Amino acid sequence: MTSANAEQCTLVAVIMGSDSDLPSLHPAIEILEDFDIKVETRILSAHRTPLKMIEFASEAANKGLKVIIAGAGGAAHLPGMVASLTNLPVIGVPIQTKSLKGIDSLYSIVQMPGGIPVATVAINGGLNAGLLAAQILSTSIPSLSAKISNYRKSLRNDVISKDKKLTNLGASKYISES
Ligand code: RP5
Repeated sequence: MTSANAEQCTLVAVIMGSDSDLPSLHPAIEILEDFDIKVETRILSAHRTPLKMIEFASEAANKGLKVIIAGAGGAAHLPGMVASLTNLPVIGVPIQTKSLKGIDSLYSIVQMPGGIPVATVAINGGLNAGLLAAQILSTSIPSLSAKISNYRKSLRNDVISKDKKLTNLGASKYISES
């Protein structure tokens, strides 16, 4: 796919069971948009709007989507259900919950029985979900690979400058200045 095509088409969907999941998924949307990837963002609940979820997942590949990021909390069946309805790669984001701190969401999403995979990131791991989606797309969009490399370079430079600062100031001054 050319970079120009990639910037025009919506390649990634970020879906969630509830708008209460949006803050955890927002980092995925932001990083993808930083990489000039268009994102479709939807609230589609596996138990409150199951027919809408089925309609979306069944049409996802035909309308040009390449990766789906699905966040859900509690008995989090949205990512697995969507994965069962499409051959597109699905990245699951377990949402932190009040009662079980997101362990419930994590186990629900990560423990998919063999045959229908969901690539699961950490609890509230929206950022990594976005990055993983970009990495999947970069296998067919070369310009995206350079953007990911630049992003990683900025992470490296950040650590190097913090290391320099810590070496110069010492631990106590570093803590009091940050
Ligand atoms: C799930 O139920 C959603 O993914 C959300 O994490 C959880 C709670 O939803 P709300 O009660 O906040 O709408 O379907």
